Amino acid sequence: MKPVNTQCRLAARPTGLPKATDFTIVDEPVPAAADGEFVVEIDYLSIDPAMRTWMNAGRSYVPPVQIGEVMRALGIGHVIASRHREFVVGDLVSGVFGVQNYALSTGAGVAKIDIGLAPATVHLGALGISGLTAYFGLLDIGRPEPGQTVLVSGAAGSVGSIVGQIARIKGCRTIGIAGGEQKRRWLVEEVGFDAAIDYKTADLRAELKTHAPDGIDIFFDNVGGETLEAALNRLARGARIVLCGAVSQYNDAPHGPANYMQLLVARASMTGFVIFDYVNRYPEGVAQLAGWLTEGQLRSHEHVEHGDVGDFPEALLKLFNGENTGKLILAMRG
Ligand SMILES: NC(=O)c1ccc[n+]([C@@H]2O[C@H](COP(=O)([O-])OP(=O)(O)OC[C@H]3O[C@@H](n4cnc5c(N)ncnc54)[C@H](OP(=O)(O)O)[C@@H]3O)[C@@H](O)[C@H]2O)c1
Repeated sequence: MKPVNTQCRLAARPTGLPKATDFTIVDEPVPAAADGEFVVEIDYLSIDPAMRTWMNAGRSYVPPVQIGEVMRALGIGHVIASRHREFVVGDLVSGVFGVQNYALSTGAGVAKIDIGLAPATVHLGALGISGLTAYFGLLDIGRPEPGQTVLVSGAAGSVGSIVGQIARIKGCRTIGIAGGEQKRRWLVEEVGFDAAIDYKTADLRAELKTHAPDGIDIFFDNVGGETLEAALNRLARGARIVLCGAVSQYNDAPHGPANYMQLLVARASMTGFVIFDYVNRYPEGVAQLAGWLTEGQLRSHEHVEHGDVGDFPEALLKLFNGENTGKLILAMRG
């Protein structure tokens, strides 16, 4: 056990890409559990693009992280002290523990992790929020049918790589968009996409015409911006756009698609969703995802960096530089 609880606190609301000076790293005493509480030592931090949006003031689906507050983060850890009836020392748990070494919890929003099912890191990837986002976003909002064409942006990322695999399981033809030749090849050769496009070098609109000659039935969008505009121009009649995220817009003043009237032309819909609204259905999602993992139909891909609380700002930037393939995780040095 460490002598102190190192925390990463938000020091300023970033403009553009977050900088090291937007955070302060402070040492606090390791918390002690009161009645009904337990202490978690955090082993893995989930590094998510949404963290950037949580740093902004203004209306969103969760309140902004306040200046001076510990940066919000999902994580996995183990219970080191407990005065709680349902959690005992040694339990492996996931929850919103923050960017710090130790978290005090009442158990609210905390789930026990079964590493008999899969290694701990998979519970932040395919069996965690990423897998659930891919599962409910694609199936509930995209409503795929066999033979349909599914386009996925951010396809080599955590959510996107799972969306492509579920779409394939559902009998769809899959096209992925990602940055760089290495990711493009990885999507086809390792993840099983039918086709993939490197948006950094290709003429995206021309490639979409080639790969989706009859149009796109479902666009699962993680990226927004120019990628969304290119996809809008290629929609099949009755297409569904699943608005999962817009990572290209998170460090900028976002701008909407100029050609949104293509939704009307294609009699298409574009629906946003927030995975937290599916919390009552998580067990269904995890059971199905775990089944596919066990059967070998689904593979989980994690990109694990090793470091500590002070490495969080740098780790976050990796998402915006496209340095990750699959789920980005910061494994804390014990
Ligand atoms: N709606 C929900 O409830 C929900 C839940 C979870 C996540 N999300 C959203 O899902 C999306 C994916 O999240 P994730 O955790 O799976 O992250 P991720 O895709 O693993 O990582 C982000 C990826 O975005 C790409 N990217 C970064 N900047 C870009 C830009 N300017 N243009 C195009 N691509 C860019 C990079 O890949 P390249 O190398 O390909 O550029 C990077 O690897 C995010 O938008 C996130 O906010 C939504």
